[in-house]
Amino acid sequence: MSSLKDFIGWQFVQKTKFDRNTIQKIRPPLLHGSFNQKYKVSKLCFLPRPSKIDVPFSEVVSKRASCRTYIPRKISVQDLSNILWMGYGIREKKGNFYFRNAPSAGALYPLDIYVAIFHVATLENGIYRYNAYQNALEMIKKGDFSRELINGCLGQSFVGSGAFTALISAVFRRNMRKYGERGVRYIFIDAGHVVQNMILTAESLSLGACPVGAFFDNELNEIIGLDGEEETIIYLLSIGVRG
Ligand SMILES: Cc1cc2nc3c(=O)[nH]c(=O)nc-3n(C[C@H](O)[C@H](O)[C@H](O)COP(=O)(O)O)c2cc1C
Repeated sequence: MSSLKDFIGWQFVQKTKFDRNTIQKIRPPLLHGSFNQKYKVSKLCFLPRPSKIDVPFSEVVSKRASCRTYIPRKISVQDLSNILWMGYGIREKKGNFYFRNAPSAGALYPLDIYVAIFHVATLENGIYRYNAYQNALEMIKKGDFSRELINGCLGQSFVGSGAFTALISAVFRRNMRKYGERGVRYIFIDAGHVVQNMILTAESLSLGACPVGAFFDNELNEIIGLDGEEETIIYLLSIGVRG
C-alpha cells in the first residue's frame, strides 16, 4: 500500500510551503526570458463591449449547478463577450499595470483563455485566443473541432455540444519568474477564480456551464498548437444553452 509521501502532488505541496524561518531565504532561481506563442493568428475579431447584467447575485450563486446537456441554439456574441470579460477581462489600468476582473497572485496573470466556438451568432466556428487588451478574439484555426475536443476530454460529449468551450492554459514562465516553484500553486488558484467568474456570468445569463478537469493534456495542446512545456492546458469550461 502506498503512503501519502509517495505522491508527487503531496511532495510538491510540502516542498513549496513557506515557514517563518525560511521565508526570507527563499529566492526562486533566476528564470530569464519570455515566451511568445508560435501559432499564427489569421483574423482578429473585436468583441462588443461588456454590457450590464442585472440579476440578483445571491440568486446567481444559489442557482448555479453544473450543466452537461445543451441544445444546439446559438448564443449571442454579446453573451460570449460578457463571459470572457468577467472572467479575465481588463478592469482598469494603473500606471503600467493592467488589472483584470479576477484576482491573480502578484497581478501576473499567467493564464490564457482559448475558445472553441460551436454555436455563437456572427462568429465562424474555430479555435480563438482571447486578447484581453483589445477585447478581441484572435482566430487560430477555422473549423469544427468538437470531435477532437470530445476525444481529448475522454469522450465527454458535452464539451463539443455547447455554444463554446473555453480552454484555460498556464504560461508557467510568467508566474515562475517571480515565485519559482510556489508560483505553480498560484497558477491553479488563479484558474479557479477565472473559471468561477465565467460560470457565474453564464448563470446570470441563464446559460448552463460545466468545468472540466479530465482530459488528455497533450492531445488538447496539439489541437491549439501549444508546446505543453512553456504553456499547457490546465482546465476547461463548457458553456451553452441548457437542454
Ligand atoms: C476541478 C474540477 C474538475 C471537474 N471536472 C469535471 C469533468 O471532467 N467532467 C464533468 O462532468 N464534471 C467535472 N467537474 C464538475 C463536478 O463534477 C461538479 O462541480 C460536482 O459534481 C458538483 O456539482 P455542481 O457543480 O453541480 O455543484 C469538475 C469540477 C471541478 C471543480
